[in-house]
Amino acid sequence: MFITLEGIEGSGKSTQILHVFNFLNKLGLNCVMTREPGGTRIGGKIRSILLDPESTAINPSAELLLYTADRVQHIQEIILPMIEGGSIVICDRYFDATIAYQGVARGLDITLILDLHKLICRNLKPDLTFLLDLRPDTGLSRAWKQLESGSRMDTESRFENETIAFHERVRAGYLAIAGKEPDRFRIIDASQSEDQVKAQIIRILEFEIKQFMDQSARG
Ligand code: TMP
Repeated sequence: MFITLEGIEGSGKSTQILHVFNFLNKLGLNCVMTREPGGTRIGGKIRSILLDPESTAINPSAELLLYTADRVQHIQEIILPMIEGGSIVICDRYFDATIAYQGVARGLDITLILDLHKLICRNLKPDLTFLLDLRPDTGLSRAWKQLESGSRMDTESRFENETIAFHERVRAGYLAIAGKEPDRFRIIDASQSEDQVKAQIIRILEFEIKQFMDQSARG
């Protein structure tokens, strides 16, 4: 099973992914927690180029290709082998982020992004995606607090430096994708407290994991 968490900066994905991992572990399920960009060793190098606030000259198409390069490496090295071995893969961001950031917010051709995913990434889609939705002004002020306190490295602040209008487009992009794929997406109000968000995610997971297990048992 392949689960992803998505949302704008400061939506709390990186905190909630730990709750998801701990919950599944306690159920005795094999699971692996990973992220994009940077889920592999090579991906870590790509991540540092992509998130470096000094990479302002990066061409939008180059940005798209670097995210895709990170993803194909991640799929081949981690995601597919783990899924095929029966583990649950939980990933902090994946392909929907490319549609929302490079497609909707940067304005690249969405058909090209979808075609690249089909050609390079086997069109691999998650089974379940949590979209942690909140207003960009709230998210960005949380994200900047993390940067100022040092809990997030300021060498990774390129997207926090984007305008509110950019992040509004990312949010709208995510909501549009979620609207098109209601079976896969669960939208969570991320302006709630950490515990409220966690409780909502765990309730959904309990149900979805059972469904998935029943389906797998039926073959
Ligand atoms: P994060 O790991 O802290 O979420 O940072 C990753 C950043 O990269 C975040 O600002 C969103 C951005 N991103 C894209 O623009 N496109 C993508 O495909 C992915 C996976 C992330």
